[in-house]
Amino acid sequence: MAAMTAAFTCNADNDVKVEHLGVNNTLVRVEGDARYLLMPVQESNEDARINILVDGKLDRTIFVRLAKSKVDYQVPLDLKQYEGHNVILNVVTAQDRSSIREASNDACWSNFVLADTFDTANREKYRPAFHHTPLYGWMNDPNGMVYKDGVWHLYYQANPFGSKWQNMTWGHSSSTDLVNWEHHPLAIEPDGLGTIFSGSSVLDHDNTAGFGPDAIVSLYTSAAESQIQSLAHSSDGGMTFEKYPGNPVITLDSEARDPNMFWYAPTGEWILMLAHALDHEMLIYASPDLKNWTLRSSFGKGLGAQDGVWECPDMFELAVDGIDRKKWVLICNLNPGGPFGGSATQYFVGDFDGTTFTPDLDADGKVPTKWMDFGKDHYATVSFSDAPDNRRTVIGWMSNWQYAAEVPTMQFRSANTLPRDVSLFTGADGQIYLASTPSPELVSMRDKLVKKAGRNTLSEKPREYRLPAENDGICEILLDINPKSASSVTATLSNMAGNKVVMTYDPAARTLAFDRRESGITDFSQDFPAVTVAPLLDSADELSLRIFIDRSSIEVFADNGHSVMTNLVFPEQPYTTLSVTADGKAELTSMSIYSLSPSK
Ligand code: FRU
Repeated sequence: MAAMTAAFTCNADNDVKVEHLGVNNTLVRVEGDARYLLMPVQESNEDARINILVDGKLDRTIFVRLAKSKVDYQVPLDLKQYEGHNVILNVVTAQDRSSIREASNDACWSNFVLADTFDTANREKYRPAFHHTPLYGWMNDPNGMVYKDGVWHLYYQANPFGSKWQNMTWGHSSSTDLVNWEHHPLAIEPDGLGTIFSGSSVLDHDNTAGFGPDAIVSLYTSAAESQIQSLAHSSDGGMTFEKYPGNPVITLDSEARDPNMFWYAPTGEWILMLAHALDHEMLIYASPDLKNWTLRSSFGKGLGAQDGVWECPDMFELAVDGIDRKKWVLICNLNPGGPFGGSATQYFVGDFDGTTFTPDLDADGKVPTKWMDFGKDHYATVSFSDAPDNRRTVIGWMSNWQYAAEVPTMQFRSANTLPRDVSLFTGADGQIYLASTPSPELVSMRDKLVKKAGRNTLSEKPREYRLPAENDGICEILLDINPKSASSVTATLSNMAGNKVVMTYDPAARTLAFDRRESGITDFSQDFPAVTVAPLLDSADELSLRIFIDRSSIEVFADNGHSVMTNLVFPEQPYTTLSVTADGKAELTSMSIYSLSPSK
């Protein structure tokens, strides 16, 4: 039971003094000078609540899975902000009523360490080479993406204190080529209104908010007891943000989050989409100055996929088939309820008049449900504000809430999808659909054309091609297939460990299937082994595939992005072989395999 007098332990160099106050309450006193206090984490544990006291006053509260029996990794508390001040962590470790234990025995106490550096060198075999990942810790949704002065700013939902979801903060990375990402200090951190959930950013060209011309203005959800919407702005090109003292700017008494803003030129005002999560609708607000918002309408009750919660909206206008006719696209991420379980991105095509979004109907007079990506690992997808050349460039979170916290990585968890440029096209059924093509910048990653093949007959006998071995097999594959009289054409990626990914084109059904049931490590979640199936929306028989493989992900863009599948895979060894077969006689019209070299 509880020791009634405080017990002291010190770590080796005496700079961190640990004082146990009771069964589940401990003070950790920082007594030395260093840049970081490294805190030991054991992932399987519950969170400990840590109140950070600075000169005796509560600075903030964070949640960390402090180690009990072994240390999986350390996370840094940056002490720079507290330089010259006295820092004490008041730690409340979780206690289970059925097994009261002495927290003083936990492994964490002797493993709090002061250090001037925090090692972020990659230790993970599944860390992608050309997808954005956080340096360490957890990441989910991309947030507040904005392009300014030649730089693509990507903020994201980050946990700086562990590789599972917690302590939501806006992390920040930027890129000038959408391939190489530079990591920056945290952009927006939790405060008394709550943690910092998803949101968006705009460039306020006309200084409507009064924060200065071209200020980056961001709106995010402050999440605590309630979900309320708060404003922050940056005058240094998105590196640091100042919060608006009038926060919150929108309050509701129900779950509402992920505000997404854009400038609507016809009426000269800002429009905001807000996910009314449990009500399965998007609320549409308008504002002259980004601070005062008026509810204009709502969209979605009873329409499209209605399971789970509606989250992370976006809305933009695009040309149809690259010509003058334009339509609006309303993005609605939902979880769960995706076509293959868990998280997915649906969208609606229609018209918007500054107040109301009116969806297009199908031939039966119904609002069709449309999916942006038919893989299991494409969520929270939203677009960059102010992208150049009229581009609409999107990035999604490449995971699924069903198992995101269980995937076999530890130093970091989750990557983003490749950036994609979206456009609208008319499908064989006369409906308008959203195409996602890899952003043009990605071609610059091509290193060597390691294999090129011209016309080849396909049959039951596999045609085999070696995949590049450098860089753990990262590559891009282009395949053009004419099914001729074959009933199916199959492209299989495999390795010597017996792992395989099987992609099957069914020309009669006009579908492409992706089977990852034997792709490698799949047993961390019963929801991971899966076959995902994408409909092919054009009328042509030929299928063209562009496939990106990046250690733990495969993105398949069919028919110039008219159908897309994004799926994670965890092969025990990199895939080494592509084999293509046909059930019947088909033709491989052309094939190219490129090795990739992302950092130039
Ligand atoms: C979507 C989401 C958002 C929320 C954020 C919290 O994945 O649930 O609705 O703002 O994650 O991290």
